[in-house]
Amino acid sequence: MERALIQADMPREEMRRMVVALRSRLQLDMALNRAIPAAYLRKQGAVKRVYTAAPERVRGGAVDRPEQTLAGVREVLGDCRRCPLCKTRTNLVFGEGNVRAGLVFVGEAPGADEDRQGEPFVGKAGQLLTRIIVAMGLQRQDVYICNILKCRPPDNRNPRPEEIAACEPFLIRQLQAIQPKMICALGTFAAHALLKTDVPISLLRGRFQRYQGIPLMPTYHPAYLLRNPAAKKQVWEDVQKIMKAL
Ligand code: URA
Repeated sequence: MERALIQADMPREEMRRMVVALRSRLQLDMALNRAIPAAYLRKQGAVKRVYTAAPERVRGGAVDRPEQTLAGVREVLGDCRRCPLCKTRTNLVFGEGNVRAGLVFVGEAPGADEDRQGEPFVGKAGQLLTRIIVAMGLQRQDVYICNILKCRPPDNRNPRPEEIAACEPFLIRQLQAIQPKMICALGTFAAHALLKTDVPISLLRGRFQRYQGIPLMPTYHPAYLLRNPAAKKQVWEDVQKIMKAL
């Protein structure tokens, strides 16, 4: 696969990013092997399933104890210094919610409020997300909420590719642990990072895509809705599709 990925004309920067992502992923894999007791994994017959790149969708199998795997991922993440965002963050925002959630929301990155509190989506955009979740007939504690980046980019600037590359392996592992039935990608960065595309969110939204076999609905970010309330109608259509499918 690597041979197909690495092309002779690939720009240096892109190759560098791939190396960062690969290193981060390998370090996480190795560390997780230490963090999650091998005896537990053997008992679950889970060693292969837990450590393969593609998530298993089997409940009662590999990741039947997502809290344990998530705790392992959190432990390995530690006081993360893998990218420069560690220098400006106040708190790392790992993610929160139901570790067995059927639905996971993935946002972009913590903002000022999230950085202060260490919890995802607690500012104005977060309050709107909470209202959307309630309108779906759910509570925040029914779902899991996390971000592409775990640390706030200064002045809420856009996430940089090398930051996404360093952080993404942890999100991948979180999603593998939770094994949701569905993912909702909030906004451009979440959709682009998860789907590896640069198709505009306005074209992606409203149609189910697949992330590692899991149906993924891209929709607009709540912060965008605060600036463009007219788009709420489209988000409501999108989340209704999720509710129907759930
Ligand atoms: N915006 C995001 O993308 N994530 C948060 O946690 C808060 C705001």
